[in-house]
Amino acid sequence: MAQQKETYTVVEESEKIGQEMEHKSAYQVLEWALDRYHPRISLASSFGAEDVVIIDMLHKINPKARVFSLDTLRLPKETLEVMNRIREKYDMEIEVFYPDPVAVEEMVSKHGVNLFYESVANRKMCCGVRKVEPLNRALSQLEAWISGLRRDQAVTRTKVAKVELDESHGSIIKVNPLADWTWDEVWHYIKENDVPYNALHDKNYPSIGCEPCTRAIKPGEDPRAGRWWWEQDPSQKECGLHSG
Ligand code: ADX
Ligand code: SF4
Repeated sequence: MAQQKETYTVVEESEKIGQEMEHKSAYQVLEWALDRYHPRISLASSFGAEDVVIIDMLHKINPKARVFSLDTLRLPKETLEVMNRIREKYDMEIEVFYPDPVAVEEMVSKHGVNLFYESVANRKMCCGVRKVEPLNRALSQLEAWISGLRRDQAVTRTKVAKVELDESHGSIIKVNPLADWTWDEVWHYIKENDVPYNALHDKNYPSIGCEPCTRAIKPGEDPRAGRWWWEQDPSQKECGLHSG
């Protein structure tokens, strides 16, 4: 009974904070988050356009702000290159989480190295091993995490709050400072602040994941059409990092 009351209070408090933060700028949201949670808060970065914007802001607020990345071992070389450029420019340590090697060995031995093309279930299995389990490990050390989610990225993301309770990860706080930003605003910030970005963005890749699961989009296509492009249902185009 006592535990039920406590959970209710955490939910209520996070909703209240979420409402307050809704009117703040991305920079103000990050200032609040670092003030309250650093060093028990870290940015999950795939080094896409949104994430490099957040890195630049975090660095301006506190050069010791933490950043981690999930290296699936299937990332494009351009992603590894920008990770290194960011590391050098901001003189920053990036914590890298790899998949469990035994789980990868078992999965690839049983289902093949490109299992994801065969079914949605296989694709989700691969994302589970290479992304979701390492994310859970990364988050188990934290009280809050930051992501680059934006509402207009996908049909699955329209309700993202700037600050929310992440019940799928042990009810820690999740901060999405760019929730209400547009794609144009992201690029305006990158250019104005000379932020390093993934070279694939210049080749019509708005959304970048693993190399075998990402392709360039054609003019007029949905920005996430290049992710798991062989799958048709946009409501399924999540890998499990942000479900919940
Ligand atoms: S995904 O779920 O479809 O792969 P997307 O590429 O749109 O996500 O990125 C959304 C946010 O998820 C990023 O801004 C980042 O916070 C987080 N993210 C995605 N991929 C990774 C990764 N490999 N490592 C760390 N964070 C990631
Ligand atoms: Fe596996 Fe593709 Fe998911 Fe990467 S995006 S973890 S390669 S299914």
